[in-house]
Amino acid sequence: MKKIFSIIIFISILLIGNSLANNHYPITTESKIMIAKGKISYEIHCASCHKVNLAGADNWKGLDEDGHRKAPPLNGTGHAWHHDDVTLHSITKHGLAKLVKNYQGKMIGFGDKLSDEEIDNVLAYIKSYWPKDEYEYQIDLNK
Ligand code: HEC
Repeated sequence: MKKIFSIIIFISILLIGNSLANNHYPITTESKIMIAKGKISYEIHCASCHKVNLAGADNWKGLDEDGHRKAPPLNGTGHAWHHDDVTLHSITKHGLAKLVKNYQGKMIGFGDKLSDEEIDNVLAYIKSYWPKDEYEYQIDLNK
């Protein structure tokens, strides 16, 4: 009896784990609360480089005075929407250092400042700027 009970608990944990994982991505713009929270974190942590309106640095395709790339737009005109949610989350959490060998640029990670949930909120906020076609294209990337 005890054994059956533990097996049932074990299976429930597996099922709950799975459904959480499945609920996580894609990050959509359905939750106004996520977007509102994401806006606050964005303005604190991201706007200094990517700008309050998400349009990126002026002349973002050029290099800055240190020879680094400038912050690209996140509003759907750059290419952030070509990345799936796992990649966007990872860029935000770990910076590009984790993805690009010997990365010297300015996109450092925010994993010590933002929780995974807060990062997802920021991504929901960012996506709320994307035109419908780019948004839907990116949602499909996650399937
Ligand atoms: C100190 C400036 C700076 C801050 C602050 C910053 N970024 Fe960036 N970000 C950059 C730069 C520069 C790049 C381009 C990286 C490169 O090519 O070297 C970038 C690239 C990105 C990309 C990849 C975009 C693409 O088109 O592939 C994403 C996504 C991103 N940043 C999200 C964020 C988020 C979310 C925050 C806030 C939590 C943030 N960034 C804060 C400078 C910054």
